[in-house]
Amino acid sequence: MALISGGFYYHLRALRYSRTLWKPYHRAVETWLTQVVLPVSADTLFVVGVSGGYALPESFLRRFKRVVAIDPDPWAKRIFSRKMSQISKKLSHETGSECELRFVARALRIDELAQLEFSECPEGSSRSAWLFSNLIGQLSLETAPEVKSIVQDWQKNLPEFLSLRSWVSFHDRLSGGLRPNIQDGEVRQKTRPSDTDRGFARAREAEPVSNETLVREFYAGAAGELDDHETENFFRGLMPSAQFHYFVWQLVPGRFHLIEGLSSHPQREAVLLKEAVPQSLS
Ligand SMILES: C[S@@+](CC[C@H](N)C(=O)[O-])C[C@H]1O[C@@H](n2cnc3c(N)ncnc32)[C@H](O)[C@@H]1O
Repeated sequence: MALISGGFYYHLRALRYSRTLWKPYHRAVETWLTQVVLPVSADTLFVVGVSGGYALPESFLRRFKRVVAIDPDPWAKRIFSRKMSQISKKLSHETGSECELRFVARALRIDELAQLEFSECPEGSSRSAWLFSNLIGQLSLETAPEVKSIVQDWQKNLPEFLSLRSWVSFHDRLSGGLRPNIQDGEVRQKTRPSDTDRGFARAREAEPVSNETLVREFYAGAAGELDDHETENFFRGLMPSAQFHYFVWQLVPGRFHLIEGLSSHPQREAVLLKEAVPQSLS
């Protein structure tokens, strides 16, 4: 399967920029991930779109007993396996524990993702966390029919799949020659003011931050064109925590991506409680 968002040329770029131009972005991803709240019971991490894991910090990966990485790019398996083997060796030396890696080298539909979780994590989804690793904002670039059909399946079925799972995603929102007004390595948090008084049911219907708001907030006074990565509505209705984080990725000199970090974990108790209320009382 030929993919535009990854592959050989992406790894060449990573080789060139990982230790220089991309460093502040990697620092921002790490800062953001240390603030993300995941249930302590989650010991298996599923990473979708892992590539070489260039942006994924060791401090985050080593929190899990098992990492299940998914990426159809054949180079990704080789490169990410090397990174994980180094992390696991270090962890074993320092603490005696290990972080095991499984790799699935193809793109999966939602029913296949659920099946994979069932086989890798039979204790149930309370033991798993899902990370969409700078992938969702690249999907609109893909043109191959088999990739397009997977994207359509995700757009239809991902909200229901994620609604009872813990997940995080960082993805492109806007990109172009204009630099967002965010410092190198800085992570900006945005919380909608009205969220504090929302109940659980209302918060589940939370609105995403619109492109207009992002332009007003991060590009004020700048003139020029921006590309829309069509991610504004991807997670609509799945943001109970309503925490939005923003940082910058300078992909190549002079080309800036505004990256959004979202995270959510289901309020299982609240869901169970709601289901337990008899019809006449609700
Ligand atoms: C921009 S790269 C991700 C960067 C990476 N997370 C890092 O830390 O460097 C996007 C990756 O998503 C992969 N990809 C595209 N469609 C996918 C799908 N449906 N499932 C899993 N991975 C996919 C591509 O092969 C590519 O490696």
